[in-house]
Order: sequence, then C-alpha cells, then structure tokens
Amino acid sequence: MSDFELTARDGLARLGRFSTPHGVIQTPALLPVVHPDPARQPVAPPEFRRTLGLDAVITSSYITWRTPPLREVAESRGIHHLIGSSGPVMTDSGAFQQHAYGSVEVGPEEILRFQSAIGSDIATVLDEFTEPDTPYEMADSALRATIERAHSARNLRSGLLAVPVQGGAYADLRARSARAASEVGDVLAVGGVVPLFEQYRYVELVQQLAAARPELTPAEPVHLFGAGHPMVFALAALFGVDLVDSSAYQKFARRGRLLLPEGTVALEDVQESTCHCFLCAEMPLPRLARRPLEERERGLAYHNLLTSAEEMGRVRQAIRDGTLWELAERRATAHPALRAAMDEARAHPEVFLPTEPASRRAFREIDDRSGDRPSVVRFRRRVADYRQGRPDDRTVRRVPLRPEYLRYLPLQDRSGSPLFWSAATPVGSVPVELLDLYPVGPYLGVADSALPARHRPARAVREEVDGLLGPHVEAGADWSEAWTAWQIRSLLRWEYGADVAESLAPEMRGERSRQSGRLRTFYRGTTPYFHVGLDGIPSPTFRGAERLHELLPAGVRRVVVTEDAAPFVREGRTLFSRFVAASDPDLVPGTTALLVDRGQALLAIGRLVLAPSEMGRMHRGVAVVVTAHARRPEPDRSEPDEGPAPADASDSPNDL
Ligand code: GUN
Ligand code: ZN
Repeated sequence: MSDFELTARDGLARLGRFSTPHGVIQTPALLPVVHPDPARQPVAPPEFRRTLGLDAVITSSYITWRTPPLREVAESRGIHHLIGSSGPVMTDSGAFQQHAYGSVEVGPEEILRFQSAIGSDIATVLDEFTEPDTPYEMADSALRATIERAHSARNLRSGLLAVPVQGGAYADLRARSARAASEVGDVLAVGGVVPLFEQYRYVELVQQLAAARPELTPAEPVHLFGAGHPMVFALAALFGVDLVDSSAYQKFARRGRLLLPEGTVALEDVQESTCHCFLCAEMPLPRLARRPLEERERGLAYHNLLTSAEEMGRVRQAIRDGTLWELAERRATAHPALRAAMDEARAHPEVFLPTEPASRRAFREIDDRSGDRPSVVRFRRRVADYRQGRPDDRTVRRVPLRPEYLRYLPLQDRSGSPLFWSAATPVGSVPVELLDLYPVGPYLGVADSALPARHRPARAVREEVDGLLGPHVEAGADWSEAWTAWQIRSLLRWEYGADVAESLAPEMRGERSRQSGRLRTFYRGTTPYFHVGLDGIPSPTFRGAERLHELLPAGVRRVVVTEDAAPFVREGRTLFSRFVAASDPDLVPGTTALLVDRGQALLAIGRLVLAPSEMGRMHRGVAVVVTAHARRPEPDRSEPDEGPAPADASDSPNDL
C-alpha cells in the first residue's frame, strides 16, 4: 500500500502526491531513464533536477547488477550515490533486457533482493515481458509466472514495489493481470507496450489500457513503461496514468531527432530559431545542428528532456483546468496513428464514465470527433431517457438556435402554455429547456458557430420564428411564468427524477440572470433551495437538500458516513475517503450529494471529489468537500410561502 493522495482530477486523470523515502513525487510525473553509469548520462540528474524540476528518475538494477564496477559502488554506497541523484529512484528489473536480448541471467528473487540492498525507493518485480504478438497460451503462462513472482516479491520486500501488468494483446489477460497487480503492488506498471510505442501502434496501446484500467485499484499510482514521447503524455494521463518513464529523450537524440509535443523533427531540418528556452538562449537549435556529434547529442537530449518536462507540466495544468480531453485531441494531430488512438479511446466510454465529472468549465471542440467524448455520450443517453417522459405532442418545429437566442424567442403560445422545442446543437437534438446544461451550454465548436442564425440580429431571428410558428404564437414574448415553471420542473426532473420534480416544482419560483436570461436560483418563498451552476445543473442548498432527503428514496444521491466521522461532517468538516461507509453508485465527481449517517440522518451536503467506486478504497485524501451542513434551526424565512422577490431582481427585464 503506497502513500498516494489525489489532489485534483479530470475524469480518470489525476493530480496526486506520491510519497517515497526520498521525497514526494507530484503526479503525473515523468521519470527520465538514467544509465547507472554516470559516464553514460547525457544530462546528469542533479542538473536536470535543478533546471527542470524533475526529481524522480528510473534506472536499471539489472545493468547495475551485471556490471561489476557499478555493482560494487551500488552495494557499498547505494544506488542514489551511484547515479548521482538525491531524489526518488525507481529501479527496473531486467524485463526490458529480456525483451531486447531474449533473456537475462538473473533470477527474480536475486534481482529483487539486490534492488532492496542498493536502496531503491521503488523496486520492480522481474516480470515476463510479453510481446504484443505473443499467442494466447504463451501470454497466459507468462502472466502466471509474473503473478507468482509478484507474490514472492511482496514477501521479500516491505518497501515500495512496482508490479508489472502484462497479458499481451488479450483483454481478459490484461484485466486479470491488473487485478493481480492491484492485490500486491504499490505501483501498478503497465508493461509489454514498448513495441507498440516504437511501431506507432497506438490503437492497440489504447485497447490494452482500456482493458487494464478499470481493474486497477484507484489507491495506487499507475506507471506506463516506455511512454517516453511527449506527444503521448496527454493520452496516457487521460487513462489515469500517473507515472511515465522516458528513455526517448536520449534515444531520439542519438538519431538527431528533436522531440516536440507536436511530433518529431530532425535537428538538421531546423532552420529557424522558434524556441527561446534557456538552452536555446545559449545555443539556438540551428547552431546546435552544426556542432560536433557528441555535443549535438547531449544538447538534443537535454532539449528533449526539457520539452518532455514542459509537456508533463501542461498535462498537470490541463487536469487542474479540466481541459485534458482538449489537450489530448490537440496532441493527436501529431501523428495519424495517435488520432486513430483517440478515436479508439472515445470508443470506450465505459472506461471513463464512472469517473467522468458532472461538468467542466468549458467544452471546446478540437476535431470532428470531439462530440464523441464521454461527457457527450453520457449527455446523449440522458437526453434519450429524458425524452421518454416528456410530452412532445406539442413540438412545433425543430429550430437551429444558440442558447443566447433563447431570450428572444417565444416559448409559449397565446394561451400561455409552454412550447416544446428541440434545438439542433452540435451534440444532437436537445430539448430547448435543457440548453444551458453541460456540455451543450458551454460547447464551443465550429458546428454551432456555422449555424445560420449565429450572427443575425434578434429581430431577424424573431421574424424567422414567426414564419415557422404561425399565428397562434406571439413572437417576441419574453420569459413567461409558464415557461420558467416548465424549465424548473424540467431541470429538477433531469437531475432528480420525475417524482421529485412533481413534488418540488410547484413550490419553486425561479430567478433569472439579468444579463444572460439563464435561470439562476430556485426559491421557495424567499429561501433559496437550488442554485443553478454555469453547467446548468440545479444543486441544492442545505434547505433544498432537506427537501430532497424527504423525497428521494433511501440510498439515492446519498453518501453514508461512518460513526467516527459523522460528528465532524455534521460540523462542516471534509469527508475523507476512509470514512465513507457506502455511496450511491450513480453519483459522479462534481455532483452535490447528501451526506447521511448510518441512521440516514442528514448531516451535510458536499461536492464529490471521488467517484463511488473510489470511496473507501483510496487510503488517503478527500472523498467529499462539504459545502453546507446541519446547524441549529434558523428562523424559518420560507414562511409564508409566497414571499416578495429579492430586491436585486425586481428591475430585471426577465423578471416574473
Ligand atoms: N520497461 C519497458 N517495458 C517494460 C516491461 O514490460 N516490464 C519491465 N519490468 N520493464 C519495462
Ligand atoms: Zn529550446
């Protein structure tokens, strides 16, 4: 069990803190592969640690073991001293040499003991490297050997242990391997994929990640062996990879190649100084191209490492910003095979949906398949469910419209009844009352900006609508009470189901934003019960949650808190993963849930950080951030039921 704490996330991708004896690794992290012989390191660990902030490295215990002068130093003074690193050092076991040379001369127990003896922070089991084209029977028996070795390695080592995930091209073997690694591993290291990277077989890489990922415990960091090219970092992180190692920075340098997140470039082709990093300030790339071989190689390796470190920084930033899908799709333009891999990733929504957040700040369309991201898949499925219970006999016409045009459109007929409309949106046909919801509300793409109504004045749109609707509809009618009531009911039904909507909607009064016309708050009397976020979702206030607690069946939208934590949660303290007793499996990160004790008493409400499948399984860290909690009963401001509207809304043109 490792000390791994999630600090932020974007779906499966996570920002974390992974503690090792030589310090904390901020994940996702790049671990440069360093040769155990300092004479063969193009850039020394202390130097890139200082200039690039890369603290952790990976080196080969096997090369150290089989090279007597290196082995002597490692055994007497430790691996950190040998390679010149004071940060976390992960050691690999020799399985890669087995792949490269066909065999290794060391036994699994000996190399494991050796890694502990030389002070490795993270030792790796000597796995059986399975090639992507290995037949099933062989992959299966190799996997049995790897699993057996992992169990004996666990008995031999109390320190951090990386357990490789093998299984070749077979989804069932990958899944079995992932489960076995999760039982004993502190780092779960997906292996056997180097040939896929080398041959640009990214589609298969994604298939293997998709098979393994759901079976890996969320509690431990995931490593991806050999994912060294910066153009794949975003894709790897998308699958929840926390650690990658890179020897590519050296290997590509040896071949005169510059690594960029956008792809690979031959140094000799670089004629312009388009990079102004601190290395290029000293020696611009076009000049480096004319230097002697050894200097060129070293310069290139350093530059490749810098580019890689920067890209990993961008990946971490994107996770914080909730824009990792955008970044991964942009990076996929680096190579057609990477684009195909993104298509393959989007073909596996089931891998992503359990941790897919309720919403993100924005949705930017990057390519013509952006609309197949898991968030859209989920939205489409929910729209299909929603339509089941929606009266559509009154649907007048499908009209293409942008959400901002809503405020200009008549949404009721002359009798005051709401009209049921669908809008053609980039994610498909969506009932008009749902247009503010993520992802359609914040969708920024080319398809919708190409809609004909985009740049025309409201009057023209209105005239067009008049033409569409005919005389029974009054064009230009502003927000009506009937429409607002309908939208409140619809949003409550969307989020909490028909029963809640039928009970609560008649009690609610809506307030719209004066600027955008969007519904902002649902009041009962003067008491806010729901706030509508920029994602269009009505989230309850504590008062609203009390009503939901009465109306929703037991278990639904609930997270059950253990006895020892209940008193703290009741006072508004954060709910940590260890103190979750149970949770509604349909909840997703970002959703506001009702926190209850084992007796079903409502303690607080809070925003989910973890998915239900992760709660209780993550050893450390926050499960739910408490946003409001049970306190002394306040004077009941909600009586009488029909209080005056809040003063600041009274001059709104969209006021009721
Ligand atoms: N390095 C690159 N691939 C692998 C792998 O599958 N296993 C191990 N142990 N090391 C690797
Ligand atoms: Zn540069």
